[in-house]
Amino acid sequence: MILHHATPQAAGRWCDEQRAAGRSIGFVPTMGALHAGHLSLLRRAKRENDSCCASLFVNPLQFNDAEDYASYPRDTQKDLRMFAAAACDMVFSGALGDFFPGAGSVAGIPVKNAGPFGRGLEEQFRPGHLDGVRTIVEKLFAAVGPCRAYFGEKDFQQCLVVADLARQFDGVEVVACPTVREADGLACSSRNVLLSADGRKKAASIYRALLRAKTLWNENVRDAAHLRRAMDEVLAAAGAAVEYADLRDPLAWSGEPPAGEMQRAQALVAARIGRVRLIDNLRLDG
Ligand code: PAF
Repeated sequence: MILHHATPQAAGRWCDEQRAAGRSIGFVPTMGALHAGHLSLLRRAKRENDSCCASLFVNPLQFNDAEDYASYPRDTQKDLRMFAAAACDMVFSGALGDFFPGAGSVAGIPVKNAGPFGRGLEEQFRPGHLDGVRTIVEKLFAAVGPCRAYFGEKDFQQCLVVADLARQFDGVEVVACPTVREADGLACSSRNVLLSADGRKKAASIYRALLRAKTLWNENVRDAAHLRRAMDEVLAAAGAAVEYADLRDPLAWSGEPPAGEMQRAQALVAARIGRVRLIDNLRLDG
């Protein structure tokens, strides 16, 4: 059994008690549908802090597509067992009105701007998504007051946005953790369970495309257009519908696609396999 609080307010009181007892809090925000990637975040949070807590809330503000929100996998009882198995000390959930008192409905909630790292890529293909993430994570940080908050690097742009948000909070460190992959390289994601058997095979092409770019980089290819084309070819051959297969300088985020020779490069892909949208990324240099 795991301690489960039904509101962020009750969770906040538990967190206050932890801090009053001098215990550091490691926090893992989730939307449930836990997988091996979440378990690695929870274990790390437990290892690096005195107390580990998590949130379980499917945030409607970050879905720009009602069908995607409706079909997002949900299994609270299974998730609670997995939180407990990862030795998480407390998990909390809540209704929309608990996070945004008085809002009534999604339409009544003032959504924050994702900030400079929200520009480009996800903004272009999922408008409003990272704004919704930033808005809820601000509420979650305010409820928990963590020392450290753990996010998976699969959601690279999200990591940048929440690290930027954390600068508003005194002493919250965002820890970006390595992507956990399945045997064929597919990044663990809650959406993987929605793939058909055929789609599951196609999905592995996303990591193959990233590896192709990495191989070229290791062969001294630095031209952005060349690297982009190579990723597109791998994805097209597998029949994945590419939203973007692009590059960014990870240390100087820009909304614009780079042109010409790159010094540092993060390759990022978003593709639809049937109705399932998947993202992944890989650092090419270093
Ligand atoms: O990465 C996720 O699961 C979500 O975007 C997060 C950080 C829990 C916010 O809803």
